[in-house]
Amino acid sequence: MLSKKGTKAATIDTLLTEKRKFKPSSSFARQANAKKSIYTTAKKDYVKFWENLASELVWKKKWKKGLTWKAPDAKWFVGGKLNVTESCLDRHIEEGRKNQAAFIWEGEPGDRRTLTYYELYKQVCKFANVLKSLGIRKGDRVAIYLPMIPELVISMLACARIGAIHSVVFGGFSPESLRDRILDLEAKLLITADGGYRRGQIIPLKHDADVALNECPSVTDVIIIKRGDFLLRFKEGRDHWYHRMMQEADAHCPPVSVDSEHPLFILYTSGTTGKPKGIMHTTGGYLTGVYATTKYVFDVKGDDVFWCTADIGWITGHSYIVYGPMAMGVTQVMYEGAPDWPDKDRFWQIVEDYGVSVFYTAPTAIRAFMKWGEQFPRKHDLSTLRLLGTVGEPINPEAWMWYYEHIGNKKCPIVDTWWQTETGHILITPLPGVTATKPGSATRPFPGIEAKILDEQGREIKEGGGYLAITKPWPGMLRGIWGDRKRFIETYWSKWDGIYFPGDGAKIDKDKYFWILGRVDDVINTAGHRISTMEVESALVEHNAVVEAAVVGIPHELKGQCLVAFVTLGGETTFDDIISRQLRDFVARKIGAIARPERIINAPELPKTRSGKIMRRLLRDIATGKLLGDTTTLADPDVLARIQRRYEED
Ligand code: PRX
Repeated sequence: MLSKKGTKAATIDTLLTEKRKFKPSSSFARQANAKKSIYTTAKKDYVKFWENLASELVWKKKWKKGLTWKAPDAKWFVGGKLNVTESCLDRHIEEGRKNQAAFIWEGEPGDRRTLTYYELYKQVCKFANVLKSLGIRKGDRVAIYLPMIPELVISMLACARIGAIHSVVFGGFSPESLRDRILDLEAKLLITADGGYRRGQIIPLKHDADVALNECPSVTDVIIIKRGDFLLRFKEGRDHWYHRMMQEADAHCPPVSVDSEHPLFILYTSGTTGKPKGIMHTTGGYLTGVYATTKYVFDVKGDDVFWCTADIGWITGHSYIVYGPMAMGVTQVMYEGAPDWPDKDRFWQIVEDYGVSVFYTAPTAIRAFMKWGEQFPRKHDLSTLRLLGTVGEPINPEAWMWYYEHIGNKKCPIVDTWWQTETGHILITPLPGVTATKPGSATRPFPGIEAKILDEQGREIKEGGGYLAITKPWPGMLRGIWGDRKRFIETYWSKWDGIYFPGDGAKIDKDKYFWILGRVDDVINTAGHRISTMEVESALVEHNAVVEAAVVGIPHELKGQCLVAFVTLGGETTFDDIISRQLRDFVARKIGAIARPERIINAPELPKTRSGKIMRRLLRDIATGKLLGDTTTLADPDVLARIQRRYEED
């Protein structure tokens, strides 16, 4: 097809246009950490900009050179030495924040604990000594398989204190997933718990860990945290109780200063194919990136109560529960369980109880809140909130508006933050108080970050759709895939020369705002048009009857591919031919006939990963009648069977 300018279409046709725009209020702007000039300062010399931010952290030895860059290898703050825990703990103790709460923690059953910075410091030092007593040294890999309890933070920081590399495996992962990660890491030690709570159920972590460890010869010791009174098998010689070892440990442990490029952690993320990739992050650059973005994107101040609802098993929890906010010395809320336990207002109860002021969650959660209804947030006093954030997926404008109105009471700016496990920290985002927001747009690259939309050949698209590209190095960038240099280069660095390819499609509008369209494998080519499934989903969700939608492409004789939409209806609407036709027409009206779904399938629930991402790949398999793909990462594998039944009945 031809684009407006009459040239061959770039890469992705963009069909939805969003006209609403929200300017920052002058009162927010006045107090904001970020001022407009930050963009010009960063543009003048982006390495200097990051160096200035790095100087706000604690270093044992100052770096000699800000950046060396020979694609795809970046080294930040070369020659510098530091230990991240000094910025996250020691510094706050020395600067008068000793008895400030670092974490106000709430367990799912309702138990509560508050850990001050000083208390946390002592626990981290003790546990670092425990790790040393088991022979863990700088560079060793430690696997962590825990629920959302404070000991998860303590474990990560204790590893960092002695230069060991932590790898957190999300507590909802299966024994096989844990085994594969431990094998890839060749971890020496596993830290786990007897169990954890989720939606009133007990997750038998130690039991699952035992299954995994049957095939993991590298692990010589296991430390078990006692979360409840859960039954477990104790293997003498290998297994140790955390609380017993902590009793005997010394509360002083000098930090091991490591090179700025020393690995801090490895976190696994799934690719479209093949085994999970162990994304490797290093020390100085990563800490600078998460610190800077926490300061300017979340605008945190001394009296804020910050709550990021992610699980620490994902990058969001690493960067915006552990390292970023702790380097800023902020007070945080941490919650163990599900948002709908015991009822659907649990989050709002927590916001009210602790006076949360900055709240960061995912679009999938926001869509669930919408589905449950505004009566749940309305029951609570949310007036302490002053800033809201989202991450993880494109947020459809309707969900954005709902968040803005029903959670933020039309007074909180929303930061829609685009980034990845690989990028380490936020790269595209509004700056609250500076950037005018448009619902559904992550707006502009963070200062010091250069992003562009490119076509297949690497030509820049000034307005319209294409591939998202990051064209300059940034401090928190991944330094590799653990043990797989070839895959690192192939996945991220081979589309264009020296430019990072995140695998996302995006469009840029005339105001230079970025609109992330999702993974390029979620792009459908129908009748010569490349359409983002996300835009069709967004249109569907705008229909009153639709709560959630997932769109996939399947082969079509004439069009190459056609669109099939799986929809979850809300309220009283029942699924029938009439609603199905209405929805197809609705999309055609909203976007154009080219986007009219061929079929609409009734899906009371959609299959999701444990981190809440819709698994379109599996829906595609159902729609094409293929055998089901790998479902090991599905939160509830039965959902799929139910949808398949409906598809076949249809
Ligand atoms: O497709 C983008 C989507 O999530 C991907 C990264 O996933 P993960 O590594 O699991 O990290 C999620 C948390 C940082 C991206 O490639 N994504 C993330 N944030 C956004 C987003 N898509 C649109 N808008 C966002 N704000």
